[in-house]
Amino acid sequence: MNTIYLTSSDEDIKKAAEIIKAGGLVAFPTETVYGLGGNALNPSASKKIYEAKGRPSDNPLIAHISKTEELISLVTDFPENARKLATAIWPGPMTMVLHKKDIVPNETTGGLNTVAIRCPANETARRLIELSGVPIAAPSANTSGRPSPTRWQHVANDLDGKIDAIIMGEPCIGGIESTIVDMTEELPMILRPGLITPERVSEVLGLDCDYDPAIKGPASPDMIPKAPGMKYKHYAPKAQMKLFAGDREKALDVMRKEQAELEAKGFNVVSIAYESGDDAARNLFGDLRAADAHGEDYILCYALSLEESINYSVMNRMLKSAGYNIVEV
Ligand code: TXA
Ligand code: MG
Repeated sequence: MNTIYLTSSDEDIKKAAEIIKAGGLVAFPTETVYGLGGNALNPSASKKIYEAKGRPSDNPLIAHISKTEELISLVTDFPENARKLATAIWPGPMTMVLHKKDIVPNETTGGLNTVAIRCPANETARRLIELSGVPIAAPSANTSGRPSPTRWQHVANDLDGKIDAIIMGEPCIGGIESTIVDMTEELPMILRPGLITPERVSEVLGLDCDYDPAIKGPASPDMIPKAPGMKYKHYAPKAQMKLFAGDREKALDVMRKEQAELEAKGFNVVSIAYESGDDAARNLFGDLRAADAHGEDYILCYALSLEESINYSVMNRMLKSAGYNIVEV
């Protein structure tokens, strides 16, 4: 397949929308990561998404809408608390899980009776959804298991020749995938941590909001995460990655020594220390891909303290990238 490259001009977004309407696939920018979009109501478009990514078909897709009202046709019930969250946070980096109507095919929801819905803030994304006239199912636009794409070039590296079009939009400002909040129970629960924190959800709703206990550590057989995607190996660079936690200066010292030792053995090594959770979120996936492109054998990375929720969200990805290879300094 010949992948066409489009700009964010209205003319080009119209071309992209025609592709979506015809059942094809278009990668597009969002404020979190690039998405690989297809008509969420068309089972064959969803199947194509799984094929292009090499993704297991029991891992459901997120349906993207351009306005909150569009959710009404997709869910059996839009509870008061879900309305409050939508009003406070959408458009933005939050996905809500609600009970689905029959119109949403099982191919899109991986056979679940719930559907994940998000209204993204990125203008190109919203215009594309609006012009397509349908909700757009979009997982991150990477090959399954690779770091999520935060620039269109990352998408091109993974999916050129496998999808109909790529919109060459701006680099993503958020850098990690949306927070997923389960709104099907009495209390909201975070199924995937992101830039919208549980504190923010609590503040909007005046209710407690916890993380799904199954997402806290490495996947274990007795703890099954409610977001099926959280059980898979994810975000893995080709290089071997190791994290160093503890006092920053001490940790950087240990990292410098380890880098020197590895380089003396002839390995290519890169060390990374982010300034803040936001800095880490914005740059982590791009840095992992850059390390692979440079042929690094090892990535040594300073681990952020888990006290702040934003750090917790980034560390969720960093730990998976490193296969939970972390030392306390
Ligand atoms: O920021 C994002 O959410 C990006 C951009 C493109 O919007 N999309 C994204 O999609 O990260 P994806 O497919 O890579 O991740 C979707 C996650 C998976 O972990 C999946 O298991 C979960 O959402 N999910 C989808 N539908 C669900 C449902 N009905 N119940 C629970 N989890 C669900
Ligand atoms: Mg993904």
